[in-house]
Amino acid sequence: MITRETIDEVKNRIDIVDVISDFIALKRAGQNYKALSPFANEKTPSFFVVPAKGIFKDFSSGKGGDAITFVMEHEGMSYVEAIRFLAQKYGVEIKEEAGAKDEDAGQRSERDSLYIVMNYAKDYYKELLFSNDEGRSIGLSYFHERGFNDRTIEKFELGYTLNSWDHFSKKAIEHGFSEDILEKSGLLIRKDDGKKYDRFRGRVIFPVHNLSGKIVAFGARILTKEKDQPKYINSPETEIYHKSNVLYGMFQAKNAIRREDFCYLVEGYTDVISLYQADIDNAVASSGTALTEEQIKLMRRFTENVTVLFDGDAAGIKAALRGIDLVLKGGLNVRIVLLPDGEDPDSFSKKMGATELKQYLREHTKDFISFKIDLYAADASRDLPAGRQDPIKKAEAIREIVNSIALIPDPIKRSVYLQETSNLLKISEAVLLTELNKILIQEKRKRDQDRQRDEPKEPVETIPDISTPEARTDTNTMVQAQEREAIRLLLNYAESHYEDQRLVDFMLTELEEVEFVNPVLREIYETFRQAAERGQIIDTLYFMEHSSEPVKRAVADLTTNRYEVSKLWGDKFHIQIPHEKEVIHEAAYSNVLRLKFRLIQKYMEDNLAQLKLATSEEDLEKYFSIHENLKNAEKELAVALGIVVAR
Ligand code: UTP
Ligand code: MN
Repeated sequence: MITRETIDEVKNRIDIVDVISDFIALKRAGQNYKALSPFANEKTPSFFVVPAKGIFKDFSSGKGGDAITFVMEHEGMSYVEAIRFLAQKYGVEIKEEAGAKDEDAGQRSERDSLYIVMNYAKDYYKELLFSNDEGRSIGLSYFHERGFNDRTIEKFELGYTLNSWDHFSKKAIEHGFSEDILEKSGLLIRKDDGKKYDRFRGRVIFPVHNLSGKIVAFGARILTKEKDQPKYINSPETEIYHKSNVLYGMFQAKNAIRREDFCYLVEGYTDVISLYQADIDNAVASSGTALTEEQIKLMRRFTENVTVLFDGDAAGIKAALRGIDLVLKGGLNVRIVLLPDGEDPDSFSKKMGATELKQYLREHTKDFISFKIDLYAADASRDLPAGRQDPIKKAEAIREIVNSIALIPDPIKRSVYLQETSNLLKISEAVLLTELNKILIQEKRKRDQDRQRDEPKEPVETIPDISTPEARTDTNTMVQAQEREAIRLLLNYAESHYEDQRLVDFMLTELEEVEFVNPVLREIYETFRQAAERGQIIDTLYFMEHSSEPVKRAVADLTTNRYEVSKLWGDKFHIQIPHEKEVIHEAAYSNVLRLKFRLIQKYMEDNLAQLKLATSEEDLEKYFSIHENLKNAEKELAVALGIVVAR
């Protein structure tokens, strides 16, 4: 059990912008920050952070809450795991309740144990590299020969594993790890016939970090020239390692990527490290396989710009380009650098030295589509007199390029590329456009079919939003929409003055007899009411500290300004729009009336339903008179609201 003091200390240190920035790139928007949702695929940002309130809200997925909630949601951690993680980040010493330690260890999730054993292995491999004779003479000298200095080795936490069948697992078991967890981590291999041995032996070690710097996997490179052995042995998929979600080097590169607003994409571990050694610290690797959608999403959290470094062997280029199509589709801006023949980023960076390398990269970076156009244009005119093009190859080129252009989500970018293609391939834009539209229409048709097959989606918001026309359907929804507005006003303007009292007092008095229909909103309202009875003033932070997840979510939702309407309109159209604060008086007044108005309509509906079921004369009379009273109240309110109500 972590002590209460530790938790409080962690909460005190938390800076939500700092915490979230470890995982995604936030852009400033006024007082607040926004970003693309890390929980959904989207093209425009609907993820908001309000530092003043210590909360985030994601309108795409409906998730919201404080920094702890974010870490839990984003990293799939439990509450305790998130506290531990944040304690480590802010250097808060974790104090455990005495006596409860063993029980806690037993309860620790398997994920936790996996992180611990992977970290133990990393430390052990590092130690061997620097302090063991075999490690130094074979491993360390290998890295030095490749030009990695000790600072770089330390940065990537490289290591060495001895050439023996069980040195690691023996040591780990001595240290108290179970064979089970060693096997689950992939570090120990257990065969059906009972044979057991270390997965990694006699190799140099490249640890793979997740975004928060924890070790999730290892790659181990062979040092000898044995033919029947793979160059790299990698960790298998485990509970904490999903290869398709990880980019090698992202942990080390993420701040640089954010700073430079682009990242280099290379193939292998050694490419990333050599570039780092040459002072280029914004490179990540796909680890030799085709990029996945998850990896593209991961990059997109830090930047929209990717520059792919291609090895200079011409044969592989066209095939490699196809892999890039997925990146275009992900909405990223793709650029290409083609390295000289026979060079990869590793070999080339060593030849060039840091300054020349940077210059080369700068001068040889080409936009992806232009690169592709050049490539195919050269192909189409190869071995022909100047100005002539092979019609078959040209047709292929057009198809290839238009296919790529069709993948770009942004229509403006598409049309720019179309123009450029038209110039370079000497073909009319109209023809290209026809081709492009053909593809786009096909795609759309496919998408529509897919959509029809899919089940209708659950709505994310449980609390109706008055701003959507669909919401204006039944009275129940209308009531909840007004409840939502009442809570929004309370959360944002409780302290504002309403004539000679505070808004919170005005609302509580006016709504004294009202019982909220929506359970989450009712809980929030009741919290306000009880606090007022205690003479307390509560705010958003109070809810973040004391409430259930659904309440936190709703509070985050209602206190986040999604659209900075007034500023936008003011800037764009030079219209003076009063800030909400200035019109809060009217807002509160009309909300109270509207809420009552809608409630009465709901009561009337309920009453009429009862009336239909009534059997005795007595009951009928009762429901009639209730109806009359409600009708009168409705009329009064309608007059006050300026609404004409049909009889
Ligand atoms: P490379 O063969 O280019 O390796 O494979 P490298 O990292 O550049 O190593 P050096 O410079 O030759 O020493 C690129 C990536 O493909 C994956 C690794 O992630 C590697 O970094 N790979 C390659 C494997 O997983 N297994 C292999 O057997 C080979
Ligand atoms: Mn390589």
